[in-house]
Amino acid sequence: MSAEALSRPFKRLADYLPPAFSIESTDLTFELDPVNTVVTAELQIRRLDSKVVELCLQGQQLELLSVQYKGHLLSADDYQLDDKSLRLTVQDDRFSLVIKTRLQPQANTALEGLYYANNTFCTQCEAEGFQRITYYLDRPDVLSLFSSSLIADPQQYPFLLSNGNKVEQRELTDGRRLVRWQDPFPKPCYLFALVAGDFDTLSSEYQTASGRTVQLEFYVEKGQGSKASFALESLKRAMRWDEERFGLEYDLERYMVVAVDFFNMGAMENKGLNVFNSKYVLVSEASATDKDFFNVESIIGHEYFHNWTGNRVTCRDWFQLSLKEGLTVFRDQEFSRDMGSATVNRIDAVQVIRTAQFAEDASPMAHPIRPEQVMEMNNFYTVTVYDKGAEVIRMLHTLLGEAGFQAGMRLYFQRHDGQAVTCDDFVQAMQDANQQDLTAFRRWYQQSGTPVLSVKRSYDADRRQLTLTLQQKTPPTADQAQKQPLVLPIRYQLLGSKRSSSELFVMTSAQASLTFDNVEATALPVVLEDFSAPVRLQHDYSDAELLRIATEASNGFARWDALQSCWLGWLQQAVAKGESYELPEGLFDFYQQLLHQPLTDLALTAELLKVPDYAVFAENFSPIPVDAILDAITDFRRQLSQRLAGAWLHCYQQQRQTTPDYHETNVGQRALKNRCLEFLALLPECNKTVLEQQYRNANTMTDQLAALKAAQQGGYPGFHTLMEDFGKAWQHDVLVLDKWFGLHASNPDPAVFAQIEALCQHDKFSWQNPNRVRAVFHAFTMLNPGQFHRLDGRGYALLTDTVIQLDGINPQVAARLVTPLLSWKRFDTERQSLLRAALERLADRAGISDDVFEKVSKALAS
Ligand code: TRP
Ligand code: ZN
Repeated sequence: MSAEALSRPFKRLADYLPPAFSIESTDLTFELDPVNTVVTAELQIRRLDSKVVELCLQGQQLELLSVQYKGHLLSADDYQLDDKSLRLTVQDDRFSLVIKTRLQPQANTALEGLYYANNTFCTQCEAEGFQRITYYLDRPDVLSLFSSSLIADPQQYPFLLSNGNKVEQRELTDGRRLVRWQDPFPKPCYLFALVAGDFDTLSSEYQTASGRTVQLEFYVEKGQGSKASFALESLKRAMRWDEERFGLEYDLERYMVVAVDFFNMGAMENKGLNVFNSKYVLVSEASATDKDFFNVESIIGHEYFHNWTGNRVTCRDWFQLSLKEGLTVFRDQEFSRDMGSATVNRIDAVQVIRTAQFAEDASPMAHPIRPEQVMEMNNFYTVTVYDKGAEVIRMLHTLLGEAGFQAGMRLYFQRHDGQAVTCDDFVQAMQDANQQDLTAFRRWYQQSGTPVLSVKRSYDADRRQLTLTLQQKTPPTADQAQKQPLVLPIRYQLLGSKRSSSELFVMTSAQASLTFDNVEATALPVVLEDFSAPVRLQHDYSDAELLRIATEASNGFARWDALQSCWLGWLQQAVAKGESYELPEGLFDFYQQLLHQPLTDLALTAELLKVPDYAVFAENFSPIPVDAILDAITDFRRQLSQRLAGAWLHCYQQQRQTTPDYHETNVGQRALKNRCLEFLALLPECNKTVLEQQYRNANTMTDQLAALKAAQQGGYPGFHTLMEDFGKAWQHDVLVLDKWFGLHASNPDPAVFAQIEALCQHDKFSWQNPNRVRAVFHAFTMLNPGQFHRLDGRGYALLTDTVIQLDGINPQVAARLVTPLLSWKRFDTERQSLLRAALERLADRAGISDDVFEKVSKALAS
């Protein structure tokens, strides 16, 4: 590693100081041009700390044209300028500053700040992108009143949008148009946005609970307008839901959503002007899967819910990111749960924690939901901050109950509306509204790692007494050696006893025990219902006991979870044996029963009938026996398909007819049908007709894609012809092509390397577009473990080359892609040395971004 690289600084939570200046108002003028945009920022500034004389504004990748202080043009020796900041000494307590900068939006491939792609100007300011627009106090605790004037050619850019209310529109004498916007709510600069371009629009109105009318406006790529109507309806449902469940109403006259294809993440909650990745807005039954519809509704909800949890009350500093993200993910999960199958929603959320989040905690990037040091903030938009953050909020909800939680929310808004606050402020509001001491609970904010909760049973036959001994222990993580016991809300039920309803036990120390009097020897405790705490559970249940829970528990999640435990046990035995492990008769019976008599919740039935994915199994091993896991999964699937061949077919035929629309029953039916198809495709005799028929006759993308996937996994010889057909049929729709790219890249055959090379030459592929890049490489690294982890290192080399290529274009996306290389210590020695070499190649590269460097250097130091 070079000396320059080693000296890259961390920012620390402990170093937080309140701002010495406030920016009371920010008036921005943009003269928009793809290669030469001039930004004039007029700031009204007030000194807050009279001892401070230096004003240091951050700025990056900017060309400074001029600075005026109180109306006087400054010369170059009146200020200090470097590639990160503009500093000046100020004598006055109040003054104006007018700063002119020049930008080249078209050359901005990082997609942070102001960028130009697909003939559209667009901004992304969170976390620290605003400093790529003008010199500013780019921190979330500086709240300012924003107004903005957008000037552009009206033929090319008929729509000129920004936050708040449109207060002026006129044509200038030179033919350009000026549109002026004013946002009445003070906000941090990360919530600023502008968009300029030509779009299809879709609009509607919404009546709030208090009777105000809000204009809802969607702006999408020309020709795609009809694909935005589901998102628009989702938005209305989200607005209604937030009024009913949280008593929160929208606060502006207009709510705009713009969909763009060039975007680094899912979506962004800019005040009154959300910007979305087009894949989370544009859906139709023909082009999008049920999962896509689900994601659209949940992300539309997520960004809308930020209006209160994020925008009205924002973060004091970026270490507090989970204040808005954990809480908003919790809110969007609750929304989704009310809109569809509650159990399957919970299962999906838990899968994210158990695979991605547990893996992150076990990796060199481990951090608490409130990190304490950061090199590049963009690296901390993580499953830990978001999803584990949401689990922590969920535990508060479990501990306080709905009424107590809502009382806490009301107090939080009463105290902090219009402020930039900390996670502690949030917990304090919950504590004060409920008169409950949450001191010990706060450890969840500072402690990283995954607690292991072990449960031991003992039964005293004479006294008819069952005792559960619980123990919690959090193993050390890369960032923290010492761990303390955490507050764990444990939901449980006792099967085969009179006390059959679910109860709550709050564990606060390292050890605890629970006794049940007057119970039979056969009474069976079901622990951690609904995954009431984000822990790894260890127990000594037999297959028979687990299968009993899977059939008898009243909690749907617990049924599924018991089966997960079974699968893990069987897989561990298969790996230990190194040969085929015969699945128990009890499983075949249980599946046979489900296939002949599915539960009312068909989507849950489909989940119960699934062999867990590689990632689920891998997370439970160290070192990870890649090949043995993959072999065992293949063998399990083969056993199930053969033993239950008739039942799969029977159930498949029962569920065959579905109407295309996205409704809970149809979604469940499709999920179950396509699970059956997955197993049918493994049987040589019925491949052809069933697969071909479903592919040709599909009335939804869900069914069509399921047929393709089943054909691929089943090794169907006609697969390539189907892929060719699909690629041609959907050439015009990049979002569908992304699915096709992904399917190619997840081909478990060595031919995938040549295929990926060809995909990168495809005329719809672009290294500049994160959706295209992710479609190929996310699929390759996450859905193709066999080829990615090849023992000749070819998979790792491909990813390393890709990260290098991408880092020069878009460091934020490059740094997300590098993640699978970081956990090198979890593999066998051969793979370890290959991965280590890959990491070293990245660390040694001159000019590697902070984004990639932060992760790679941590990995190498681990
Ligand atoms: N705040 C956004 C959300 O959770 C996340 C986000 C969108 C983001 N774009 C970003 C974060 C760019 C970092 C960088 O809804
Ligand atoms: Zn968010």
